Amino acid sequence: MEIKKVGVVGCGLMGSGVAQISATAGYETLVREVSQDLLDKGFASIDKSLAKFVEKGTVTAAQKQQTMNRLKGTLTLDNLGDCDLVVEAVIENLETKKHVYQTLDELCKPETIFASNTSSLSITEMMSVTRRPDRFVGLHFFNPVPLMKLVEVVRTIVTDAAVYETMIRFAESVGKTPVRARDTGGFIVNRLLVPYLLDAIRAFEEGVGSIVDIDNSMKLGCGYPMGPFILHDFLGLDTMYYTANIMFDEFREKRFAPPPLLKRLVLAGHFGKKTGRGFYDWSDPKNPKPTM
Ligand SMILES: NC(=O)c1ccc[n+]([C@@H]2O[C@H](COP(=O)([O-])OP(=O)(O)OC[C@H]3O[C@@H](n4cnc5c(N)ncnc54)[C@H](O)[C@@H]3O)[C@@H](O)[C@H]2O)c1
Repeated sequence: MEIKKVGVVGCGLMGSGVAQISATAGYETLVREVSQDLLDKGFASIDKSLAKFVEKGTVTAAQKQQTMNRLKGTLTLDNLGDCDLVVEAVIENLETKKHVYQTLDELCKPETIFASNTSSLSITEMMSVTRRPDRFVGLHFFNPVPLMKLVEVVRTIVTDAAVYETMIRFAESVGKTPVRARDTGGFIVNRLLVPYLLDAIRAFEEGVGSIVDIDNSMKLGCGYPMGPFILHDFLGLDTMYYTANIMFDEFREKRFAPPPLLKRLVLAGHFGKKTGRGFYDWSDPKNPKPTM
């Protein structure tokens, strides 16, 4: 099973990153978006990211140009029919993803492998709407894709062993370190990270410590690169709330249940850094101040 041509569906934050590393690794890469504006925006962010690598001296201007030459955009899924691998990175909505897979299943050759970049949805549920459940995996890249080394390669109970190994090799070929994960809610990283982040909110609600003191404790006492509340604000409280609910639904365990404070912040539209306010006020992004 040789991967030569890669399709990417969605050219947002994650899709543009996946397209970039795929083209950088030498794969002919075709990206689909829903509008020319969004496609242009995605390609501009790829260009900007590659330019930073050129500045740092890790990529030459000629290599950047070759990478851009291997990348093509399209507004229709039809053109993805002859891809060997399609990585889907559309919005985190099960119905949208199922619709994409149903359409792709009709269009793509029978050998095409499908991979979802979902953070929290079930790969098994997505694969079940196609006639190729054995050729379906999760490829969970991390943000920002060009810099983060990890990819969780997720298999279901029916993933073909040879397809799975091909995906492990694909992850390595784009410069990542793959880890092997089974299709259970949150895979490995979120299974461990989400209860920790939710517990930090519960500790704050119970008066264990202030936001800044809890953040400093984990940063300075445990060597974490940032505290849980700063991380919440970076990840987006809306995304955290959504992910926690999906995981609570799957496991029915208290450790995955979103605490009331998280729900209230989300209802108030305080999603963290992206809205300027969450557990911190980001008016001065270099010096965030706790909001409570
Ligand atoms: N943001 C993160 O940190 C992160 C990390 C790991 C995984 N993920 C997962 O990656 C996926 C994408 O997330 P994102 O942060 O890039 O979102 P995003 O909103 O930045 O990008 C999604 C893009 O998909 C496009 N899209 C929607 N429907 C489409 C369709 N039918 N065909 C083509 N494009 C379509 C949208 O126009 C949008 O540009 C989600 O499943 C998310 O859970 C996100």
